[in-house]
Amino acid sequence: MRVVIQENYENMSLWAARYIAGKINAHREARPFVLGLPTGSSPIGVYRELARMNRAGEVSFSNVVTFNMDEYVGLPHEHDQSYWYFMHDNFFNHLVDMKPENINILNGMAEDPEAECARYEAKIASYGGIDLFMGGIGVDGHIAFNEPFTSLCSRTGLRSLTTDTRIVNSRFFGNDPEAVPAQALSVGVGTVTDSREVLILINGHNKARALAATVEGGVSQKWTCSALQLHNGAIIACDEAACGELTVDTYKYFLDIEKKERL
Ligand code: GLP
Repeated sequence: MRVVIQENYENMSLWAARYIAGKINAHREARPFVLGLPTGSSPIGVYRELARMNRAGEVSFSNVVTFNMDEYVGLPHEHDQSYWYFMHDNFFNHLVDMKPENINILNGMAEDPEAECARYEAKIASYGGIDLFMGGIGVDGHIAFNEPFTSLCSRTGLRSLTTDTRIVNSRFFGNDPEAVPAQALSVGVGTVTDSREVLILINGHNKARALAATVEGGVSQKWTCSALQLHNGAIIACDEAACGELTVDTYKYFLDIEKKERL
């Protein structure tokens, strides 16, 4: 696992955006570059920088296919808290050459959620899998909506949200946890770890325990993010604020090794 520690949120976002753009630009195959994407506050800086680069002609999305991680059950596209709305508002609407037909987001209004999730997995497979999955992380270590004790080999499916997550996400729903949908459709932990590369953004003091569990803890379904330890290409991009629960040794190790990466 690679852990890239940046001074603050801004630098973490710039680093991650440039990393992703570099991967898209280096993709020389005729098949599209397949990019997994998250919602949440963590990726907003990355989306802003990628959109800037796209408008400046520094990266093209014309041969990129995207798959989003998750979507609330029961929120239509036009609901301003649906992840469909979030992605268009914060990212896709700001790109000059993203093809709408290349955007894939789970349909939280599907009549048959299990069929919708099976369709999604099959569509990912039809592209030959995901090249790079960018993700965020919940304060309880969830990746996508894979709450504690979700199987580390889970696939795309229907998930129930924990009370903790509904409380945390209630800031977007008038501070009312009951207004937060109780269920979501989400890619599985296994769907994420099947990707050729995984890049997880972890920023802020409130994510410090989750970062320590991801990097230093044992592999455990209690912290679904810890499954990344079994992935061969996992990168954590984080800020200083999120490092508060790492041991000094771990913190120094990753700063040292990244310094050598740049030499
Ligand atoms: C939600 C999403 C996750 C996301 C998490 C963290 O629960 N389903 O995919 O990683 O929020 O969000 P934030 O980046 O706002 O802290």
